Amino acid sequence: MGWSSILKSLLTVFVLSILAVCSVESYTCIQATCENGNCLGGTRTCPTSYSCFSQIQKLETPSPDTNLVLEQKGCASYQNLCALEFSATLGNRQKFRYKTQCCTGEQCNKENLTLPPLSSEVNGVECPACYNNKTNTCSTTTPLKCTGAEKRCIEVTSRDLSSNIVMYGKGCATENACALYMTVFNNIQIKTSCISTNGSPALKSAASLPVILLLQKILL
Ligand SMILES: *[C@@H]1O[C@H](CO)[C@@H](O)[C@H](O)[C@H]1NC(C)=O
Ligand SMILES: *[C@@H]1O[C@H](CO)[C@@H](O)[C@H](O)[C@H]1NC(C)=O
Repeated sequence: MGWSSILKSLLTVFVLSILAVCSVESYTCIQATCENGNCLGGTRTCPTSYSCFSQIQKLETPSPDTNLVLEQKGCASYQNLCALEFSATLGNRQKFRYKTQCCTGEQCNKENLTLPPLSSEVNGVECPACYNNKTNTCSTTTPLKCTGAEKRCIEVTSRDLSSNIVMYGKGCATENACALYMTVFNNIQIKTSCISTNGSPALKSAASLPVILLLQKILL
């Protein structure tokens, strides 16, 4: 095949996929923003041709005044908004949970998302933990026994895009919380990375073992 025919077939595929996307039936989704249970601006609908999303973000802190639950629903125009769930517990008992999912169908995001109950069962991983809402470092850390599915040690930097307040923390998190660069609570930019510790090397090597075996089989 010459280049022009390859390009021609690529173009055909491209045009066909656009047609396929455009011919998807459009429907409406529930659109709402609720802060601590108060839905601001009531509930409306929006038209979509991709999908509806629901999202819940929950911050639990030692003081009830700084706790925050943000629930959002609306029309998702691209894949990125769909299917992300993670949780992290930083020093000073700051716990953040995030869940977003998409669905297709007329007002399919009507139901509220719920978060699974928190597990208090220690899982054997221990991470250095700290929390600092003034600068982006911690001078000291204290060991934190991780619970439930939070089996990775994490480091989080955040910046409030409106007030420029920075925060830095370390603690335990779920695998999905590693390597995020995103906005939470609409205007807080977070950047995360997982720290390897000697707490759980067994987990890592167990996960890569099948890959190594497979590679050996292929190479031999
Ligand atoms: C969903 O949650 C909001 C506030 O958190 C509440 O006002 C609303 O009634 C709930 N909707 C359903 C279907 O439970
Ligand atoms: C910053 O952290 C301190 C101590 O943990 C807390 O008392 C204070 O309320 C926090 N401030 C903000 C803005 O979160």
